[in-house]
Parts: sequence; C-alpha cells; structure tokens
Amino acid sequence: MGVIFSKQGLNDASSEYIQPVTKDGGKERVIISVGGGKGGVGKTLIAANLGIMLAREGRRVILIDLDLGGANLHTCLGVDLPKSTLSDFMQKDVTNLSDILIETPINNLRLISGAQDILDIANIKYMQKVRFINKLKELDADYIILDLGAGTSFNTLDFFLASDIGIVTIVPEPTSIENVYRFIKSAFYRKLKNAESSLKIKKMVDDIMKNRIANGISTPSDLLKKIEETEQDIGEAVRKEMASFSPKLIINMVRSQTDVEIGHAVSSVCRKYFGIETELLGYIEYDNLVWQSIRKKNPVILEFPNSKLISDFNRVYKRIINPNIRFIDGALER
Ligand SMILES: Nc1ncnc2c1ncn2[C@@H]1O[C@H](COP(=O)(O)OP(=O)(O)OP(=O)(O)O)[C@@H](O)[C@H]1O
Ligand SMILES: [Mg+2]
Repeated sequence: MGVIFSKQGLNDASSEYIQPVTKDGGKERVIISVGGGKGGVGKTLIAANLGIMLAREGRRVILIDLDLGGANLHTCLGVDLPKSTLSDFMQKDVTNLSDILIETPINNLRLISGAQDILDIANIKYMQKVRFINKLKELDADYIILDLGAGTSFNTLDFFLASDIGIVTIVPEPTSIENVYRFIKSAFYRKLKNAESSLKIKKMVDDIMKNRIANGISTPSDLLKKIEETEQDIGEAVRKEMASFSPKLIINMVRSQTDVEIGHAVSSVCRKYFGIETELLGYIEYDNLVWQSIRKKNPVILEFPNSKLISDFNRVYKRIINPNIRFIDGALER
C-alpha cells in the first residue's frame, strides 16, 4: 500500500502514488483552490480574476474548472464553448491534462474546462482523481487555480486539500456561513482521515468516535484533545499534521462594516470550537459592475480596471502572493 502525498498532508492509502507537485528543477508550482461549500458565492469570479491578475504580472497560469455539471469559467473568461474538456481526460480519450488546455484571450492564462461535462464531481472515481492529481504535476505553469464548485463531496474536499492555498469564499448570509463551517469542518475531518494510516491512529479515532457522546466530542477541537489525553505523543503528531490545515477566507458581496466583521467572527469560531487557524485575506464589496461585465462576457478586471471592486481584488491578491501582508484592521474602505 502506498501513501499518497497531498500538499496539505498525507492522503488515502492506495496502490498509486501522488508525488509532490514540483517542477523538474525543483521549483514548486503553486496550486490554489477556491471553494466554500455554497453555490453562487463568487468562487468562479474570484478564481477567474485571481488568475488574470497573476497572468498580467507575467506568471504562467492555468485555471481548471472543477465545477463539473455547472462549469462556467470559460464564459467568465470570454472563451466560447470549449471542444475539449475534463471528460476527455477522465474517460482516457487523452493521456495528459496538457492535451485539453485551451488558450484564453489573456496572455499567460490557459484554461482546462469542465463545460458540458457528462461527469458530476461527486461521481469521479477514486482512481480518476488520483490520475488527475498526478497529472497536475506535469502541467507547465507557475500557478494552477482550481475552481471547485459548491458542496462538500469527498472529491471536492480532496482537491481543496491537495492545494497549497485553499481559499474559502463566504458571503454575509446565514446560509453561507453555515455552509462554510460545514465545509471547513468536513475538510478537517477528511484531512484527519487521510492522515490516519500514516499516523496509525485509525483504531484510536474509531474507538473515540464510537463513544462520541460519552467522550464529549462535538467539534474537531474536542477530538484532538481526546487523542492527546489518550496518548500524548500521538496527539502531538496529529496536532502538528493538522496545523498545516489553514484555510484562507474571503468575504464577498460585502455591503457594510458589519459584513466585513463576519470574517473575523468566522475566524474566531474556527479557532475556538474547531481548533483550526484560518487566515482572513480580506473582503470584496458587492458591485453591480460584476453582472455588467458578465453580460459582456468580459472579466470585470478587464472591463472596469479602475473600479473600487478591482482595488478590493488587488488587496486580497497582494495577501495571497505575499503572506506577510495581513488583514488586521478590517475597516471597510470607501
Ligand atoms: N462582489 C460581487 N458583487 C456583485 N455580484 C457578485 C459578486 N460576486 C459574485 N457576484 C455574482 O454572483 C453570482 C455568482 O457568482 P459566481 O458564479 O462567481 O459564484 P460561484 O460561487 O462560482 O457559483 P457556483 O457555485 O454556481 O459555481 C454571479 O452572477 C455574479 O455576478
Ligand atoms: Mg462557479
């Protein structure tokens, strides 16, 4: 049985290996995923504009639409219905992901589309997923951005965990916040599950979870504490492994200062109840320019480069490419 490597930790046991995604010279490609659990919160908007910003700075970027069934990244980029899609790769009609790369109107930015795919993300088989993640490393790019689509299927969570930077998109609505907690909690448990075989904790976790109520486990934080109580060394190893799980939050469609503060509230709930450190990347205001640009099939950053919306994007973008810049005050800038 082999151990599959993923960027945010060790993955399921399997007969095939996923190697770390590094270039031949040893320089790493950065994989960024944009998820969030809920539909319609701006994942595609963020993935597309982030990709364009990186490409305009001379980085070679590949955007991958993993929102199979609801793929629309191509439209956001002004690309007509692509002839080749992920289906061709998943069904082995082509060998490499590079065979289904599509040029976009933007220099340095290419796309792998899931448009009109007959597949649904939840139905991708385990080996198809392994083959996909393995082939990511053969793509020639500086940044690979995964537009994850809604939901918390194991496949979506695995793509999120396979990335170096996992972005979670939140809109200031109770339903979105609820879904975000579910997404982060599910990803945490999925990562722990993936680490069980390497850390040899499967039996221990199963035993603890069997008596979950008696053991007082209602959050990931309770589980970590109980593992530590049961065996301190193992508890420390698990905590260390899980510390690399640090989702980055973007609050989208913000209309007020209260909306901005939701980001801080979500962050502190994740720390207090889940024991998960998140990082707030910032916020993006609600702006009608978004639908105006979508109607024109032109990315908002190209259609309205001098808008307030794009300065929001710029601030978030700077924090992504330079993690030393932190979102601290959180005041809504007008
Ligand atoms: N900051 C914003 N201001 C105004 N409208 C926005 C903003 N962000 C997203 N939208 C609008 O919200 C809708 C959903 O955006 P988008 O398609 O990016 O979300 P999504 O999370 O990818 O959705 P899905 O889960 O369906 O893939 C779009 O119609 C878009 O125009
Ligand atoms: Mg989308």
